[in-house]
Amino acid sequence: MELNQIKAEAEKEISPIISQKDLENWRVKYLGRKSELSLFFDSLKSLPFPLRKKQGNKANQTRQFLLVLYQQKRKNLEKNQPDFEFFDLTRPGEKPKKGHLHPLTMVLREIVHSFEKIGFEVVEGPEIETEYYNFDALRIPENHPARDMWDTFWLKSKVKLSSRAQVEGSQKSKMLLRTHTSPMQIRYMEKHQPPFRIIVPGKCFRFEATDALHEFQFHQVEGLMVGENISLANFKFIIREVIEDIFKHQVELRFRPSYFPFVTPGLEVDIKIKSKVNDEWLEIMGAGMIHPQLFKNVGYEANQWQGFAFGLGVERIAMIKYGIDDIRLFFSSDIRFLEQF
Ligand code: DAH
Repeated sequence: MELNQIKAEAEKEISPIISQKDLENWRVKYLGRKSELSLFFDSLKSLPFPLRKKQGNKANQTRQFLLVLYQQKRKNLEKNQPDFEFFDLTRPGEKPKKGHLHPLTMVLREIVHSFEKIGFEVVEGPEIETEYYNFDALRIPENHPARDMWDTFWLKSKVKLSSRAQVEGSQKSKMLLRTHTSPMQIRYMEKHQPPFRIIVPGKCFRFEATDALHEFQFHQVEGLMVGENISLANFKFIIREVIEDIFKHQVELRFRPSYFPFVTPGLEVDIKIKSKVNDEWLEIMGAGMIHPQLFKNVGYEANQWQGFAFGLGVERIAMIKYGIDDIRLFFSSDIRFLEQF
C-alpha cells in the first residue's frame, strides 16, 4: 500500500473512535508489528541505497504522523470521556438516601390518630407558660408542697413583673417552660363550653437529673373530656380502647389511686410488661376526675359538669412499643439508634 494511502485511511478511521478499546485496535492496525507500515519498512531492505534512504525518510514521516494522531486521540479520550465506554444507559439509577420520621413522631402520630378515631379534637398550647396556668389555676399554689412534683425551668424576664401583671390583670405572670401539658386544661376551658373532648399533644420540660426513665424534655398527651354524667367508668373504657388500638393487642392495665391537686379522685395507670424473667408494671399516665375548683376557676356553672383528665407519657409508650430501655436514646441523635426504625 502507498504511504499516502495509509495516512489517509488511518486518519479517516481514527476520527470517529470514542473508546480506548477501539483506539488500541487502531494502533495495532496502523502502528503494530504486522501493520502495512511495518511491512513497508521490511521491504526497504531489498532496495538499492539512495532509494532506500529516500523511502525510509518518507516511511519515518508517516510513522511520526500516525504517532501524533494516536497520542492526540488518546489525550482527547482521557480528557473528555474517561468512562464513556462504561456508561450503561439501561442500568437502574442509584436511589438517593431518604430519611424517615423520628420514632417519637411516629408514636405520637399513632396516639393522636387513635384518639381522633373516637372523636377527640386535637389542640395545642404554648411551651412557654405562665406560673398561673402551669401551677396556680391547677390548684398548685406557691409554697404548696405539691409544687415539688414538678422541678421547673424558670425563665428570666426583662419585663418588670408589675407592668406585666397589669397587662394580664390579676394573673401571676412569672414565665417558665411548661412542666406538663395540663395548663391547656385551663386555657381551653376558659374559651370553650362543654360538652367537649380534646387531646393536647406537646413537649414538656423538667429541671431534673436524667436517668433511663427520666429526661429533662419529653412529650405528653393531655386529655380532657367534659360533659354531663361523665364518670371514671367512661375514662377506663376509653383509655383501654385507645391503648389497645396503639399496641394492636390486648393489654393488662392497673388503675391505682394517686394524688394530683387538679383532680379528685386522682389515679395512675400502669401497664403490665411481660418478660420471660418476670412481669413488671410500668406507669404510663396520671389521671382523675377534674376538680370542681378548676371549673370555678374558668367560670363554669357549679355542679353542672363532670369530666376526666389524663396526662399520657409518650416516651413511655414508645419505649414499651419498641422495647427501648433508655429514654435518653430518643434525643441522642445517634444515627445507629434512629436507623432501626
Ligand atoms: N400533669 C401530670 C404530670 O405531668 C399528669 C396528670 C395527672 C395529668 C393527672 C392529668 C391528670 O390530666 O388528671 O405529672
